[in-house]
Amino acid sequence: MKAIDMLEDFPKQFEVVKTEKVKVDQYKGIVFSGMGGSGIVGDFMRLLLGDGVLSISIKDYKLPSFVEKDWLIVCSSYSGNTEETLYILEEALRRGIKPICISSGGKLRDIAKKEGLIHLPLPEGYPPRYALGFMLSTLLCLFGMEESVKITREHLQQHKESIKEKAQDIAKSLYAYLPIVYATPLTEPVATRWKTQINENSKTLCYNATLPEMHHNEIVGLENPQIRNLCSFLMLCDPEDNPRIIKRVEITQEIFKDLGILLKTIKGEGQTLIERLAYLTYVGDWVSFYLAELYHQDPLPVKVIDFVKRSLRD
Ligand code: PA5
Repeated sequence: MKAIDMLEDFPKQFEVVKTEKVKVDQYKGIVFSGMGGSGIVGDFMRLLLGDGVLSISIKDYKLPSFVEKDWLIVCSSYSGNTEETLYILEEALRRGIKPICISSGGKLRDIAKKEGLIHLPLPEGYPPRYALGFMLSTLLCLFGMEESVKITREHLQQHKESIKEKAQDIAKSLYAYLPIVYATPLTEPVATRWKTQINENSKTLCYNATLPEMHHNEIVGLENPQIRNLCSFLMLCDPEDNPRIIKRVEITQEIFKDLGILLKTIKGEGQTLIERLAYLTYVGDWVSFYLAELYHQDPLPVKVIDFVKRSLRD
């Protein structure tokens, strides 16, 4: 399938799936383990489960020593063969924990079958980052949030054309610059998604930073005109961000204005957090696609990721 077709169909990936159900209050905490396109789903889930749930996202080989049998571990790898995630799975099994696995196949599915673990299947044939909607829907259903899946699908369908228009303009403003995507605590995973989609689809560098931390460092770096003139800046924010964060967004805008640089602020549209996050994510996915077009790049191949994975296997 072409990248454009997968992007067009992204809203349709939000579909209620039949899964086992987990109750978060039965666990001391939740670990989401996954890398790249399969790791970001854990960051989204942490935000959507809310701060009443103790959760961590692991993008590494190491399972923290405090994670014991009373924790839920979710291992997600689209291919099912990602080394870091498989290490976490093996370590969890050694500790007597039975993780829930989500993949389109691979070793993750084989091990889950052998060990009698819950395995949630994903449709085959997608590059991992193009299957975010499937992964997210599956996990939302696992946590009993089916309604969120339905409203997100409808919301994205409804706004698709305006999202594409917005994305085209943003892509033009990023072309030939280093994109810098600022975020707030509520939009941080989306900014990470923008960064990684621009890296992998548009084949160019991109960086992100988040408020309030960036007010303690990043903001000073703007003093260098030689470097800042190489960058194009965006700020993602959410109407439900803490009022102090909203104040910080306004202060950041003033700082940029005084420096004479443009900071384009983009808010998600929608009634609920998931709708707004999905909206912003979809804008970013299209931005990365249009930016790839401007750079005459094919968004699909990620040769160097394949090279690294091959080199680690050999
Ligand atoms: O989008 C990609 O291709 C990568 O970011 C992958 O998601 C990452 O390398 C991990 O692979 P997988 O999703 O198969 O676990």
